[in-house]
Amino acid sequence: MSDPAIATATQQILMAVQHPEQRPVVKTFFDEKTFTASHVVHDPQTLTAAVIDSVLDYDPASGRIKYDSAQEIVDYVRAEKLKVAWQLETHAHADHLSAAPWLQEQLGGKLGIGANIVQLQEVFGKIFNADTRFARDGSQFDHLFKDGEQFKLGNLNAIALHVPGHTPADMAFVIGDAAFIGDTLFMPDYGTARADFPGGDARMLYRSIRRLLTLPAETRLFLCHDYKAPNRDTYAWETTVGAERAHNVHVHEGVSEDDFVNMRTSRDATLALPNLIMPSVQVNIRGGHMPEPEDNGTSYIKIPINKL
Ligand SMILES: [Fe+2]
Repeated sequence: MSDPAIATATQQILMAVQHPEQRPVVKTFFDEKTFTASHVVHDPQTLTAAVIDSVLDYDPASGRIKYDSAQEIVDYVRAEKLKVAWQLETHAHADHLSAAPWLQEQLGGKLGIGANIVQLQEVFGKIFNADTRFARDGSQFDHLFKDGEQFKLGNLNAIALHVPGHTPADMAFVIGDAAFIGDTLFMPDYGTARADFPGGDARMLYRSIRRLLTLPAETRLFLCHDYKAPNRDTYAWETTVGAERAHNVHVHEGVSEDDFVNMRTSRDATLALPNLIMPSVQVNIRGGHMPEPEDNGTSYIKIPINKL
């Protein structure tokens, strides 16, 4: 089956493996409260950087936001003298709020997400009964990535891949030999992302994962989350395509689509929703901006009863 986007990504990765100057530098910031790995990736030649999946600190009891996690990224970027070209979101997260708008103010960079975000804006716009000020056209973002879309990070070649399943809009960003795969695969000993949120689809997730696993074995994979695992007491967020193919407990080579879908669906039925799903979804479908203020100037997070 021909897949031009995967063919281009494969060529890019193999070139980068052979040419060290085409391999990006990756620094990861892990937020233990939401188990989220935010990555700052940069081209060592031009110091051009992208921030991927940043975290805004949010206290659900008080409704207060803080920027401590995001400030760590700002400090690192300034210390390394990086120039931020992109703020990227692999998807609209349901477990943490994005700090992208605040980081844009501090560091610059265009805000990018997958083009199918408009589907999620439609779904969640209805669930949260958003008023007409909430545009469902993706205009809160600077750029909407399509499958197979190539771009540059400084001198590094990069390509976006659409990997739906966890949500309909999930993207993987392949930069040099490093793939930032969002919520698709987790560490081999932990498995895969859930597929039961509105718009999620376990069968689609399996196909997206199989597609990612056709990339070269040496592709570096950077994950969006880690929760430790039985027999592992430290957090981890980097692995390879080869390791996932051989060892992923949910989807290693030989696991059929039907077996995966059965496993994923029954496991998802046992999972509680993430603590921050209500604020996260309302903020992240707006590109990390708070809901439109009410007539007293204050933004509110809604909680629909018996909807999720
Ligand atoms: Fe997610």
